[in-house]
Amino acid sequence: MDLKGKSVVVGVCGGIAAYKVVEVVSRLKKMGAEVDVIMTANARKFVTPLTFRSLSHRPVVTDMFSDPEYWEIKHVSLAQKADLFIIAPATANIIGKLASGIADDMLTTTVVATKAPVLVVPAMNHDMYANAIVQRNIRTLRELGYIFMEPDTGRMAEGSSGKGRLPEPSAIVEKACSILKSEQDLAGIRIMVTAGPTRESIDPVRYITNHSSGKMGYAVAQAARERGADVLLISGPAEVECPDGVRLISVTTAQEMEEAVLANFENSDVVVMAAAVADYRPAEVSETKIKKNGDEMVLRLVKNPDILKKLGTMKGNRILVGFSAETDDLEGNAADKLESKNLDMIVANDVTMEGAGFGTDTNIIKILKCDGTVIDLPLMSKLEAAHRILDEVRGLAYAAGDAGL
Ligand code: PMT
Repeated sequence: MDLKGKSVVVGVCGGIAAYKVVEVVSRLKKMGAEVDVIMTANARKFVTPLTFRSLSHRPVVTDMFSDPEYWEIKHVSLAQKADLFIIAPATANIIGKLASGIADDMLTTTVVATKAPVLVVPAMNHDMYANAIVQRNIRTLRELGYIFMEPDTGRMAEGSSGKGRLPEPSAIVEKACSILKSEQDLAGIRIMVTAGPTRESIDPVRYITNHSSGKMGYAVAQAARERGADVLLISGPAEVECPDGVRLISVTTAQEMEEAVLANFENSDVVVMAAAVADYRPAEVSETKIKKNGDEMVLRLVKNPDILKKLGTMKGNRILVGFSAETDDLEGNAADKLESKNLDMIVANDVTMEGAGFGTDTNIIKILKCDGTVIDLPLMSKLEAAHRILDEVRGLAYAAGDAGL
């Protein structure tokens, strides 16, 4: 990838892995990026500023006040020019400071002042990484939109083994490139995404559900966030982690999902319903475990609310995107739902196809739009499919821009 015209600020902290960041800077520079390095006082005990200066061909920023050679480089100007900020190795100390809003040196003041995406790459002793306070701080920063890379697992500098090693420089650069190339074309758009299954209780130990893992909906939330949208994810019990920077409301039943969706509908410009909502729930939920008394048991079910259909009756100029999980007549059934639920688009997936539908990391989708267009897509990762769906959402959102979206 050509990074010409891109500005990357690399904050280096005091950890033994600081030497690996030398290669990160070198690779980014070779790809054409302008790279500014900020070193904390402790980082300078591991690697000299001269090393980074020689590779970046830029003065290395080490101190806010004392060095007149760098007087012109104010933390605010670095914060403003950055297209991407990378903090590596990110120590428990810097993670704690940022999570608490502490800005007491050149690196922390610059990060606090930047609007650029911040990629945090932790590296530390595995027990420190597992520490509950460190993990809490990471969660806090993730919720605020900081992007984290997981440390590698392996032999640590002090001889023991565990999770805490800095990922390879090539992996860090790859992640940086994927952030830099993502267009912020959904910035300012509020997207509500639903994901996962719902669970409908029969008694305290049993429930009705379906095979949804949440992967498709979470991929839509991640892709939307990567493109700058303000994303709210309303999820049933899912197997996946909430993407960085996405607000999550966890629900269990279809009725809880309906309540959460309706409460947030007013503040949404786009709704993407990827959740596999249970169409029926047990008419009565037994307060005690139902005993197996006979050879047969009859369970009476009642209909759950059709959340998307309800949204269709009150959509205004919002964009509504549904999903359609089918086992037969994919296009016909999806087209019926597109019309009956008053949607702008529906994403149809045949859940009987290999690599498509429930639980897989990939999907095969057809996008049906209300103007009759059908976009037939091949097998691709759910994240890629999510981006293709959002390309269409962006088209509709830009067209609706004149209508006040
Ligand atoms: O989660 P994964 O394992 O990644 O699997 C992905 C998926 C197969 C669940 C996903 O791609 C998908 O197809 N989701 C929709 C599944 C579904 O419930 O389809 P449906 O045809 O029953 O519903 C049509 C639309 O109405 C959906 O947008 C659904 O969210 C919505 N709906 C359905 C029922 C209901 N009571 N209320 C609703 O809002």
